[in-house]
Amino acid sequence: MAYQSLEAALTGSMRDFRELKGPDLLGRVEDFYRWQENRRQLGLWSYSKSTEEAPLGVCAAKDETGPGYRGVNFASQDYLGLSSDPEIKETAKAVIDEYGVHSAGSSALAGNTKYSLKLEETISEFLKARHTILYPTGWAAGYGVIKGLVRPDDHVVMDGLSHACLQEGALSATPNVHLHGHLNLGSVRRHLQRIRGRNTENAILVVTESLFSMDSDTPDLAALQELCREFNATLLVDVAHDLGCIGADGRGFIGKQNMLGKIDIVMGSFSKTFASNGGFVACNSPAVRQYLKFYGCSATFSNTLSPVQAATVAKAFDIVRSERGRGLREQMMERAMLLREMLEMEGLHLLGIPSAIVPVVVGEEAVARMVSRRLPRLGLVANMVEFPAVAKGNARFRLQVMPGHTRQNIADFVEGFSAAVAAAQSEYQDYLAAKTAGKRVRPFADVA
Ligand SMILES: Cc1ncc(COP(=O)(O)O)c(C=O)c1O
Repeated sequence: MAYQSLEAALTGSMRDFRELKGPDLLGRVEDFYRWQENRRQLGLWSYSKSTEEAPLGVCAAKDETGPGYRGVNFASQDYLGLSSDPEIKETAKAVIDEYGVHSAGSSALAGNTKYSLKLEETISEFLKARHTILYPTGWAAGYGVIKGLVRPDDHVVMDGLSHACLQEGALSATPNVHLHGHLNLGSVRRHLQRIRGRNTENAILVVTESLFSMDSDTPDLAALQELCREFNATLLVDVAHDLGCIGADGRGFIGKQNMLGKIDIVMGSFSKTFASNGGFVACNSPAVRQYLKFYGCSATFSNTLSPVQAATVAKAFDIVRSERGRGLREQMMERAMLLREMLEMEGLHLLGIPSAIVPVVVGEEAVARMVSRRLPRLGLVANMVEFPAVAKGNARFRLQVMPGHTRQNIADFVEGFSAAVAAAQSEYQDYLAAKTAGKRVRPFADVA
């Protein structure tokens, strides 16, 4: 590609290419590709990385342009490090030998396996819910539970920072989607009052997460459930980021807030703590479980978890419930606190409460892109998050801690990362000064 524009690579966002117009269905996505390719060529596109070995605290990684490198890895979602756990691997190997690798059907037909049925029971027991239904992914669970239960005349009131699967599920189910202020109970109440003031005929689903992954914060779940009772609404809580890895017993903020068995509907993902793809919905009603099985489209018309996945996740639950699981949580939390402390000592701005997620705010998207460009050479693997995934001017790195991170890994990361932030900030100032002076701004000297 001939054109390299630093200005174009430092500005704009994926939001700019969401609307597509014109008759050429394939051709009209070219603008996005050009913008992305320009960023890629300048080393400012840090998405779509791959790991070249198991995603441990240190691992080999690659992005789409640069050569592979090895480095300290805070980019993997494996909050208790179970994806490489010897017991989990043994379980997976044994189940492959016994069962093969495929469920060969959806749960509505013959895709249930003895392992998926056992996993449903395990989750129900762990969450003190009467019934659980599995989904092929957490995304499918979030989308499917809302699409399955909500109809066009109903209303969904959801936290403005809710995950894409929840937002997409809501938007596909009803035009009446109301985003409330993040964690803001007053805002939830106002929405509920307004809706119920003119509509008592239809259902309202209130949607939140027990740990928001971009900010590492949690709502007051008891107060939300109470509000739902007051306004004849139903509460859905997505526990993807804290189930298994938060709280002495691993029951996440639902457990810590004494809400076990008291939330109307709980959904989650296995992809953060339970070493596998997959998701679930847990509730107390057999009718809801059966309805979702046949109307929650993303489970009904999609094959159920493979026996390997189901057995792996069930084994992960065994570990989560054990003394060893408790130890892993403590170790992960100790490492997360150390990382937070050391980053703060460098003057970096962190968000939220301690969890496996440590969000470090950099601010300007341009600066964050310049930071991410430097990370491979420093031997650091980390994920940048920018608008529209987070608010404009609030770009950040979402670091994900595992119990296997050593103190040395943390020290190495903090040293390299804070140097990258300082260098990127001054690089950006130079860029702005050159631009203001009307000088031609060249791409980085180290870019061919
Ligand atoms: C809050 C939340 N819900 C659901 C999901 C989807 O989970 P999965 O990766 O299992 O599809 C994610 C993952 O990004 C998430 O962060």
